[in-house]
Amino acid sequence: MLRVCVCVSGGGTNLQALMDAIDSETVTNTQIVRVISNNKGAYALERAKKKDIDAVVVSPKDYENRELFNDALLQSVDEAKPDLVVLAGFLVVIPPKMIQKYEGRIINIHPALIPSFCGKGYYGLRVHEAVLARGVKVTGATVHYVDEGTDTGPILLQKAVEVLPEDTPQTLQRRVMEQAEWIILPQAVNMIANGYGKDMRDK
Ligand code: GAR
Repeated sequence: MLRVCVCVSGGGTNLQALMDAIDSETVTNTQIVRVISNNKGAYALERAKKKDIDAVVVSPKDYENRELFNDALLQSVDEAKPDLVVLAGFLVVIPPKMIQKYEGRIINIHPALIPSFCGKGYYGLRVHEAVLARGVKVTGATVHYVDEGTDTGPILLQKAVEVLPEDTPQTLQRRVMEQAEWIILPQAVNMIANGYGKDMRDK
C-alpha cells in the first residue's frame, strides 16, 4: 500500500477526485494517511473528515516566523510516514529541507501545460486569466515531481483541454479540472502506487 499525504489549501476537488478514484478502485494499492492544510477554512478538510481521514491544519499564522512554520509542516508530513506527498492545490512554497528529504516522492498538479503559464505567480485562477489574455487555443494540466524550482520538476503526465471563445477564467478553470486535473492526478498516483518511479524513490 502506498501511503499518501495530501497537502491542500482550498476547495479540495482534486483531493475528492483522488478519494473517489481510490473508492472506485480506479486507483489501487493506495491509502491517504493524512491531509494537511495551511488554511483553517479549507473545505478540503471537511472532505477528508467525511472519509475519516486524519485532517490537520498547519497554518503560518500560528508560528512566529517562516522557519518555525516550515519545521512544523515537515514534522506533520513526517508523522504521516508517507511514501508519496501529493500537492493538490497547495499554495505554499515547499521548504527546501522537505524537498531534499522527500526527493522523488512529492508530486504537484498544475493547471496548465508546463512550461507554459507556470512559475512564480501562476496559481489558481491567475493561470486561466493569463491563458485567456494570451489567446492560446489549447491549455490543460500537468502532474510533475517537485524540485527546488517553481513548477520545474520532471513531468509525469499532461492532458490538453480546448479553450473556447466564450470562456471566462472560471469556466476555463472548471473545464481544465473536469477534463484534465481530476483524471491525471489520480492516474499519476495509481502509476506510482503500482511501481512507476520506484528507482527514484528508493535512492
Ligand atoms: C487546482 O486547479 C490546482 O491545479 C491549482 O489549484 C487548484 C486547487 O483546486 N494549483 C495550482 O495552481 C498550483 N500552482 P482544488 O482545491 O479544488 O483541488
